[in-house]
Amino acid sequence: MSWAPAELDLTRPNAARMYDYFLGGSHNFAADRRAADAVLAVAPHVADAARANRAFLRRAVHYALQQGIHQFLDLGSGIPTVGNVHDIAHHVNADARVLYVDVEPVAVAHARALLGDHPFVDVIQADICFPDFILQNPATQRLIDLTRPVAVLFVSVLHFIPGDVDAIVEPFRAAMSPGSALVISHAASGTTTAETEEVQRLYQRTPTPLQLRSAADIEALFGDFTMLPANRSTVRASGTALVPVAQWRPDADDQVAGSPASASPFLVRFLGSVGIKGAGR
Ligand SMILES: C[S@@+](CC[C@H](N)C(=O)[O-])C[C@H]1O[C@@H](n2cnc3c(N)ncnc32)[C@H](O)[C@@H]1O
Repeated sequence: MSWAPAELDLTRPNAARMYDYFLGGSHNFAADRRAADAVLAVAPHVADAARANRAFLRRAVHYALQQGIHQFLDLGSGIPTVGNVHDIAHHVNADARVLYVDVEPVAVAHARALLGDHPFVDVIQADICFPDFILQNPATQRLIDLTRPVAVLFVSVLHFIPGDVDAIVEPFRAAMSPGSALVISHAASGTTTAETEEVQRLYQRTPTPLQLRSAADIEALFGDFTMLPANRSTVRASGTALVPVAQWRPDADDQVAGSPASASPFLVRFLGSVGIKGAGR
């Protein structure tokens, strides 16, 4: 508990800490675990969706590294768990720069404790609804050189934010230099089932109820960036760029793609893609 900031409301479940619990982490409280267990009781595949999302993040970061991108802005980065962006990036380049941003005090406190005084990695507590605050933050300016390609990650965060989220993404798209990568995963709306309805109802009890959006609205968040084909071997055909996260360029380490869990609505509707600035759509 030494990692828990004093001002926390321990009685109210929080989506960041529920997600930590789904992933097998230990930075969560009884109220989070009760709410997460209630979700798992009606929808056991939510935990598979969380794992598939983390695996998507890993593959997207690897893709960026292969393109020579060595700086990462991870927005809504969450409670550090296995396979954080800097762990992935530093396997390839020990000099890679990573800035984590989250609004949740536990996520930020734990990230600070984990990172210590790392020269190339930092974390700030900020609300991504204020992009200029993040872009102009001294930590961003110290670590991220926006005149060079950067990977900006909105992984499983925008569906916790109501309203016009393009107003959040657009300033980042504008600030990124050509060759930069925009990584987004987002829970999409679709046919409602008793399972999905119950999960949405349970998230209403957290400070960040789920805000599902259509696939078209999620795709629009990439603006004029070129969305990569989800399958490495195909040229982009309409509709193949934004796919369930488990199907975005799966590799040998992925256990969810093709498993029975992949057919659950939580996997099918958890969409993701990577867009490249200035590659011509
Ligand atoms: C489901 S977790 C995803 C964590 C990580 N991106 C991943 O995919 O594994 C969502 C995170 O977004 C954060 N978040 C939600 N709304 C936010 C906001 N307005 N600004 C910054 N972070 C936010 C939450 O605190 C939580 O840590």
